[in-house]
Amino acid sequence: MSRSAHPAGPRHADVLPEGHYTGPPTDLNALDSKVWAQTVTRTTDGVVSVGGIDVKKLAEEFGTPAYFIDEADFRARARAWRTAFGEDADVFYAGKAFLSRAVVRWLHEEGLNLDVCSGGELTTALSAGMPADRIAFHGNNKSTEEITEAISRGVGRIVLDSFQEIVRVAHIAESLGKRQRVQIRVTVGVEAHTHEFIATAHEDQKFGIGLADGQAAEAVRRALALNGLELIGIHSHIGSQIFDMAGFEVAARRVVKLLAEIRDEHGVELPEIDLGGGLGIAYTSEDDPSEPHEIAKALNEIVTRECEAAKLRTPRISVEPGRAIVGPTAFTLYEVGTIKPLDGLRTYVSVDGGMSDNIRTALYDAEYSVALVSRVSEAEPMLVRVVGKHCESGDIVVRDAFLPADLAPGDLIAVPATGAYCRSMASNYNHALRPPVVAVHDGEARVIVRRETEEDLLRLDVG
Ligand code: LLP
Repeated sequence: MSRSAHPAGPRHADVLPEGHYTGPPTDLNALDSKVWAQTVTRTTDGVVSVGGIDVKKLAEEFGTPAYFIDEADFRARARAWRTAFGEDADVFYAGKAFLSRAVVRWLHEEGLNLDVCSGGELTTALSAGMPADRIAFHGNNKSTEEITEAISRGVGRIVLDSFQEIVRVAHIAESLGKRQRVQIRVTVGVEAHTHEFIATAHEDQKFGIGLADGQAAEAVRRALALNGLELIGIHSHIGSQIFDMAGFEVAARRVVKLLAEIRDEHGVELPEIDLGGGLGIAYTSEDDPSEPHEIAKALNEIVTRECEAAKLRTPRISVEPGRAIVGPTAFTLYEVGTIKPLDGLRTYVSVDGGMSDNIRTALYDAEYSVALVSRVSEAEPMLVRVVGKHCESGDIVVRDAFLPADLAPGDLIAVPATGAYCRSMASNYNHALRPPVVAVHDGEARVIVRRETEEDLLRLDVG
């Protein structure tokens, strides 16, 4: 079995048979609202627009490739999570999905908290005015400098990921004369149905402390005994791009069971549990994600029920959605450069970006869709593979999709649902210049992360 053929099942492992596609859509010009940001629409002249601006104008002003993020949609999704979970819970946006100072400000204004997992993310969050006490710090190997910075700046919580870290954080907090609020991340032993590289709660991986073998209970014992730590709760994150709520339910049940054991052993009821992020989004029309209110209802019910059964006070719940907030709010705009029909196979459409702006297809066999956005076309559908301009054949942006047969160099095409883990995982492979992120809102577009320049590359290369 290959590394990516995760036993959770071929569908969720994205192990697709060669040439997987569902057949041409009935209307190639249609834009499925499942995968496109809320304000995306076709104008009367057939050009696609976002936030009231058409993509030809956007391409002229900002160039391609570029990510365009629909600010109204981002705010609406953030608000939907906030509202769904209500005042008795906290929503921490996972900054790793995409973080910039503008995004931090939107989150702050919409009442969300922020999960960071590096000194760089922490600095970005603080520099945009996110109050430190609304920040959670994650990671399986935080450096001493990162821990020191997080504690001195007063982050709301540090999520402890190992026995060494329990001691390390306690020691640094004490030496700073502080008592740090912490959670312990446990691995609940759930096989999340997703790609192996983004499943995180089965036993054989690097995150968290195991529940099943009593390690988590031991971690709690140690944390409770240290003056530098205030243990406020237990954390579980089972993976990413998950559609099936069953994994979260099992995780919640096991975390609550641990809370009951802690109460029985230590006489303390920990006040919080964090159930992580990981809710899937639609990358293609076939994906069917749950809405935030459905997720909130399911999680609240299971936690309440389990707590009642264990005679525990219901803890304050927090969640950490990243992809589910930012993923659907952006698309990547590319210009078609070359078109190469391979007889009897498919047509290769090369764009001016590639694996440097979207590594997910190469890394996780992720599926995306694509549309011609600079005009409508009545031509027949042709099966295409959208590829980048990088020097390897795995440089695929969209493995199999249909575009009109009259596609020509100079046309603009766009890949929706690229808001999460695309710019944040972008690279300079082949000395590509990482594309800008442009926020579009009510007829106005502004760069929130500028395009890299060759001077940026040379500045790092000290000769
Ligand atoms: N909380 C923790 C502790 C996490 O590790 C993550 C993601 C999240 C929350 C947010 O998960 P989300 O809601 O965004 O699924 N690069 C991969 C995803 C890696 C996710 C890592 N952790 C991808 O492109 O699919």
